[in-house]
Amino acid sequence: MRPPADAIGTLALIVGVIASLIFIGVEAALVYAIWRYRASRNLAGQPATFERNRRLEIAWTAAPALILAAVFVLTLGTMAEINGAGVAPAMRIAATGHQWWWEFGYGGTKTANELHVPVNTPIDLDLTSVDVIHSFWVPELGPKMDMLPGTTNHLRVLARRAGSYEGQCAEFCGVEHAWMRIRVVAQSQAEFDSWLAAQAVPAVTQGGDGERVFFLSNICVNCHTVRGTAAAGTAGPDLTHVASRATIGAGVLPNDVARMRAWLADPQRYKPGSLMPRVPLSDADLDALAAYLGALK
Ligand code: CUA
Repeated sequence: MRPPADAIGTLALIVGVIASLIFIGVEAALVYAIWRYRASRNLAGQPATFERNRRLEIAWTAAPALILAAVFVLTLGTMAEINGAGVAPAMRIAATGHQWWWEFGYGGTKTANELHVPVNTPIDLDLTSVDVIHSFWVPELGPKMDMLPGTTNHLRVLARRAGSYEGQCAEFCGVEHAWMRIRVVAQSQAEFDSWLAAQAVPAVTQGGDGERVFFLSNICVNCHTVRGTAAAGTAGPDLTHVASRATIGAGVLPNDVARMRAWLADPQRYKPGSLMPRVPLSDADLDALAAYLGALK
């Protein structure tokens, strides 16, 4: 199958051409009528009139009806195509909206904000939300679809070329709606398989200061999971391989140790309203914590 976005693009082009031809036809008729029946040609001072032209009335009723019927049939075909058109998905990925980040689940392996997919592979996303209505939209891959609390919607996506694709939450969901970016990384099947295998591995216990701070006073562990450790919070993103992701905070900052430290020091500075609170930590603790997270590759 071709990417759903291509099918939508083709339909938009056809409808655009039809609408343009109608526009040109109507404007041409209008200009002709203005010229043909202008007052200076009508010396008697009477406006030109005509009535009861049955052929004309049938034509201007039938033509729009036929055009709309054709667009309707094309639209039904496109809807069937973007829903998969009988092609079974090669893979299902769970995608869950949170205020204000995305959770992606590959079976028991969870990650956040960065969706990896194998290229040229039809994938169904099972979309839901844990809080308010979000909308998943990566324009180059497929249509947008709402993520609704308490129900699951299915969205077919397909990436034809390897590379990264940008997306965005498309339903206003609170103060940080604009910072709900989606990054899709499309890879060859082999690259994807090795990425997924790496993500599935639990974190290695580091035993250093940073790990101690992470578990300190139940601050980080209340909300975050690091598989392989006792940290099993689910309110925030799974951090097992947080250093493998390109951004922090669903797109607000590029991900490196220095920015991670800045983010940890004051998330509200970079993402005001974010549910991650500002936790007072010493400079040494911040350094250690940023280094710990930076090692979770
Ligand atoms: Cu989530 Cu807007």
